[in-house]
Amino acid sequence: MTDLTLEEKASLTSGSDTWHTTPVGEAVPALTLSDGPHGLRRQAEQGDALGLGNSVPATCFPPAVALGSSWDAHLAHRVGAALAREACALGVDVVLGPGVNIKRSPLCGRNFEYFSEDPHLTGVMGAAVVTGIQSLGVGACVKHFAVNNQETDRMRVSADVDEQSLREIYLPAFERIVREAKPYTVMCSYNRINGVHASQNRWLLTEVLREEWGFDGLVMSDWGAVNDRVAALEAGLDLEMPPTGTDEEIVEAVRSGRLPEAVLDLAAGRLLELVRRVEGRASFEGWDLDAHHELAREAARAAAVLLKNDGDVLPLRQGQRVAVVGELARTPRYQGGGSSHVVPTRLDNAWEALGRPAFAAGYRLDGQPDAGLSREAVAAASAADVTLVFLGLPEAAESEGFDRTTIELPAVQVALLREVAEVCPKIVVVLANGGVVSVAEWQEHASAILEGWLLGQAGGSALADLLTGAHSPSGRLTETIPNRLADVPSHLHFPGGDGHVRYGEGRYVGYRHYDTLDADVAYPFGHGLTYSRFTYSDLDARETGSDEWSVEVTVTNTGERFAHEVVQLYVAFDEERPSRPRHELRGFAKVGLEPGDSERVRFALSGRDIAQWSVSRKGWRIDAGSFTVEVGASSRDIRLRAELTSRGDGYAAPLDRMSTLGEWLAHPEGSRALKQLLQGAPGLDRTDPALLRLAMGIPLAKFATFGIGLTSEVVDGLVAAVRGDG
Ligand code: BGC
Repeated sequence: MTDLTLEEKASLTSGSDTWHTTPVGEAVPALTLSDGPHGLRRQAEQGDALGLGNSVPATCFPPAVALGSSWDAHLAHRVGAALAREACALGVDVVLGPGVNIKRSPLCGRNFEYFSEDPHLTGVMGAAVVTGIQSLGVGACVKHFAVNNQETDRMRVSADVDEQSLREIYLPAFERIVREAKPYTVMCSYNRINGVHASQNRWLLTEVLREEWGFDGLVMSDWGAVNDRVAALEAGLDLEMPPTGTDEEIVEAVRSGRLPEAVLDLAAGRLLELVRRVEGRASFEGWDLDAHHELAREAARAAAVLLKNDGDVLPLRQGQRVAVVGELARTPRYQGGGSSHVVPTRLDNAWEALGRPAFAAGYRLDGQPDAGLSREAVAAASAADVTLVFLGLPEAAESEGFDRTTIELPAVQVALLREVAEVCPKIVVVLANGGVVSVAEWQEHASAILEGWLLGQAGGSALADLLTGAHSPSGRLTETIPNRLADVPSHLHFPGGDGHVRYGEGRYVGYRHYDTLDADVAYPFGHGLTYSRFTYSDLDARETGSDEWSVEVTVTNTGERFAHEVVQLYVAFDEERPSRPRHELRGFAKVGLEPGDSERVRFALSGRDIAQWSVSRKGWRIDAGSFTVEVGASSRDIRLRAELTSRGDGYAAPLDRMSTLGEWLAHPEGSRALKQLLQGAPGLDRTDPALLRLAMGIPLAKFATFGIGLTSEVVDGLVAAVRGDG
C-alpha cells in the first residue's frame, strides 16, 4: 500500500469503465466483472450497462426462480461451476450473482432472479451457487445487499423494516452465504434501509457484514448506487461501479482531513486482495457447449413443478393424439428482462422437442385478441385426446426495473383455455412465468398444471422430458401460490409511496403468514407432485448436545417409477395465540429413489434454528421449552411430528424500575428478591386472580404511586439487589 500514491489508491475504489476495475501500472491489473446470475452477460470491451442483448453467447441456465425450485444444492453448485468455467473462458474475474433477495411480494419484477420467499432455502441455494462459481477461482458477487424486494422506486425508496424481520427474514440468506461460502464480493443494493442508503450504511456494510459475520471480501456498489462517495467509503463500501469520475473528491477529502487515509487504505487494500484472489483463476479456451446445454436441461427438468395431475393425465401415453396449443410452446419465454439477460448459445422449444405434434398458436403474445388464432386452436384441440396448452407471461409483463400490478395471466390466454377445454377432455396447462401467476380462476379447466417458470435455454426439451415421462417432475414450490393478490401478506404495504415502503407484515412473509393463520392458498410452499408416491416412517428426533438435535426419517418410494422426493423439515411452535410464525423451514433433502427403495434422511438442528432475534438484547434469544419438529412434503403436508425440548440460553433480560411485576416474577433473582421482601405480606396466591393479572402488567416503580407500601426507595433497593450492586 505504501508504494501507491493517494491518487492511485483513490482510483482503485472506483471502476475504470462499466465492467472493469482500475489497473495501476503493471502490478495491479484491471478485473473484469460480468452479470450474472444465471449466465454470462459478457459485453465487448467498453460495453455500456444498458447494452442489453448484445453480449457474447453464453449458456442461459435456469434463472434462480427455477434453480431454486429444484431444491437441489448439489445441482446449484454444478451450475455455479459451469458459470465459472464460462467466466474463465470469457476472461471474467467476478460473476455478478447470485441474487438472494427474499420474495416479499409476487409482484416484484425481479422475482425471477431470486430463489424463494424463505431465507433458509435461499441461503442454502445461494451458498451452493457461490461455492460452485468460486471452485475455479472466479469471484462470486452476492446481491443485492440488502432488503431490495421491489423494483418500484428502487434507487430511492426506503425499506422501513423492523429489526426482528431484518434479522429473521431479510438478512439470514446473506449471513449463511457469507459465513459458509465466503464470497469474494458482495453488491450493495440501491435502496435505503430505514432511511439510510445501503451504499452508505455503516451498520449494514461494516457492523453486521464484517464485524458480526466475518466477511473479509470486497463490497461493490450496484450500478449507480453510490450517492456520496466519501460517506460510502466510511460506511464500508470499497468499490464504486461504474465510475462517476469523482476520484478527485476522495483525494481532496483525505487531504483536507475529512476522510481518514486509513479508511481509503482499507478499501484499496480490499481491491488489491480481490486481485490477488482471482489471480489464480483457471483459464480455458472455451467450454463444451453441448455439455453445458445438457446441464441446463438437467437443471430445468429438476425445476418445473407439477402442481396438479388429476387422473394421472401426465405423463403422456404412447398412441395418444396430442395437440400443442400456445405460442409459448414455439416461442419460449425462458429468461427475464434486464441486466441478467443472456444471449444463449442455442434455444430449445417444447413443440419441436415433443416431435412437432399438431400445433396452433392460439393467442398473440402482445395480448391482442385474435379470433382466427383461437378458432385454429379449438380445431386442433377437438381432434386430440390430450391438449397441452402453453400459457404464461409475455416478456413485457415482468422485468428488472418495474413491478407487476397483477398476478393474472393475460385475459386472451385464459379465454383460449376455456374454449379448448370445452372441446378436449384432457387439458394440460404448461406455464411460463418468472413471478407467480394466479391459477384460481382457471385451474378447474385443466386436469394437470406443470409450472415451468423461466427454464433457461434448454427449458423446451426439459419440459418434453417431463411431459412424456422420460423423467419424473421433481421441482417444489419455493413460494406460495395465493388464491388472490389481496391475500398476500404485504399487499397493503407494497410498493409503498412517498419514498417509503413499510414492511408492515413483519416476519409473516409467504407461508409464515398463510400457515400461521391457516389461510387458504392455491398451492402451498414446498408443494410439487411427481409420477410416483412416497411414504415417511420411523421419525427419530433426539438431543445430541446442548441445544443440538438430530432428526432422522425414512422415506420410501411406494410407486412404480424412479422419482425424487424433497423431504422438508420445519420447526413448529403451536401457540394458541401466535407470537411467532407457526413453523419455519430449517432443513431439506432431495432424494432420488427407485420403486420400493428407501433412504434414511438425516438433519441436524442447532439453537439458532429455534432462536428469535431479541431487539432489547440485540442478539438471538433461545427460549426454554418444547417445540415440534415436522417432517413432510410441503408446509401443508406434514407427515410426521416429534416434540423436543430446549433448555434455552438462560438469558433473562436485566430488570429495572420499569420492569413489570410479571417480569420480576419471571426473573430468577428478581422473583427471589421480591418474594423475600413480600414475606409476611398477604400471599400472591391468595390475591384475586383478575387483580393479580392486572398487577402483573404494572411496572414496579408505578406501585409506589398506588400507596401499597412499595416506595420508590424500596424499588431502587430491589433493582440494586438484583444487579448485584446493592
Ligand atoms: C442490477 C445488478 C447488475 C448491475 C450490472 C444493476 O442495474 O441491479 O443486478 O449486476 O446492474 O448490470
